[in-house]
Amino acid sequence: MCKPSFFRALLAGVILALSAGIAQAEIVIKFSHVVAENTPKGKGALLFKKLAEEQLKGKVTVEVYPNSSLFGDGKEMEALLLGDVQLIAPSLSKFDRYTKQIQVFDLPFLFKDIDAVHRFQNGAVGQAILGSLKKKNLAGLGYWDNGMKQLSANKPLRKPEDAKGLKFRIQASDILEAQFKAVGAFPQKLAFAEVYQALETGVVDGAENPWSNIYSQKFFEVQKYITESNNGYLGYMLVTNAKFWNGLPADVRKTLEEILAEVTTQVNQWATEFSENDRQKIKDSGKSELLKLTPEELAAWKAAMKSVYDKFTPEIGQEIIDAAVAANN
Ligand code: LMR
Repeated sequence: MCKPSFFRALLAGVILALSAGIAQAEIVIKFSHVVAENTPKGKGALLFKKLAEEQLKGKVTVEVYPNSSLFGDGKEMEALLLGDVQLIAPSLSKFDRYTKQIQVFDLPFLFKDIDAVHRFQNGAVGQAILGSLKKKNLAGLGYWDNGMKQLSANKPLRKPEDAKGLKFRIQASDILEAQFKAVGAFPQKLAFAEVYQALETGVVDGAENPWSNIYSQKFFEVQKYITESNNGYLGYMLVTNAKFWNGLPADVRKTLEEILAEVTTQVNQWATEFSENDRQKIKDSGKSELLKLTPEELAAWKAAMKSVYDKFTPEIGQEIIDAAVAANN
C-alpha cells in the first residue's frame, strides 16, 4: 500500500508541473498607445498581437490599449518602468527626458523625406540612439513611422509671420517649443488626448501633426486650413522595459523580435499609404482647405526656424546632426 507521504509528494509534483505550465502561459504583454486603431501605429499594435498570439500560442497574450485608454502621454513611460505595461511606442519627441540625442528627430526641416529618415535610423547613429536608453532600463526595439508633420490653424499659414501671436499645441518637446517661438507663436505642451478639444474650444489656434493623426482624430474638422509644410518628422520608438524583455525565455524573445521586424516593415508601408490616403480624404471632405507653399514661402519658414539648430546643437551633438543631414543624400 502506498504511504500518504507518497501521495503528498505526487500531488506537490502535479501542482508544480501545472503551475509551471500556467506560468509559461501567462506572459501577458500590455501594449498601450495614444492614437486611433486606424493609423499606422494602431494597426501595427494589432498586427503584433495577431502574429505573437499565432506563433506563440499558449505562451504569449497581447492586450492592446489604443487611444490613451490605459495610459496617456506623460504616464505611459512611467507605467512601463513600473511594469504596469510592457510595450509602448511614444513619438520620438516624447523621449527628451531620457536622451538628449533623440531630439535630433524634432529639428525643423531636417529630413527631406521619409527615405532619408530611414537611412539615418538604420545607420550607426540611429542605431546608437535606439540603444542609448539601456541605462534607464528601457530597451528600444525599433523605429516606426507615422509621417511628415503639417501645420494647421484657423487662418491660412503661408508665411512664418502668419503664425505670429497664435497659440499652437505641441508635444512635450523643448525643440518644438523653440520652433514655434522662433516664428513668434505661443507653443503649449498638451497631451495628445486633449488636442481635439483644445482646438475646438480655441484653447489653442493651431497644431502640427501627420495626416493620419489629423484625419483619425478629426482635427481637420476644427482647423480651417492645413499647410502642406512637411516641417518635421513624426515617428515612434517601440520601447519595452529592459528587465522584462531580458527576463523572457530566449526562444520567446527571439520569436517576438522576428515578429517585430516584420511588423515594422508593414507599419512603415502603411504609414506611406495613410499619409496619401488620409490627406486625400481630408481634401475631399471640404472641411479644411489644403495650402501648398511656393519654394520662396518654404524657404522663409526654413530660415525663420533656423535658430533652433543653433540653440540645440550643443545638447544634441554636431556629429549627430551631421549624420542626419548626410542621410539626405
Ligand atoms: C502627438 O502627441 O501629437 C503624437 O505624438 C501622437 C502620436 O502618438 O502619434
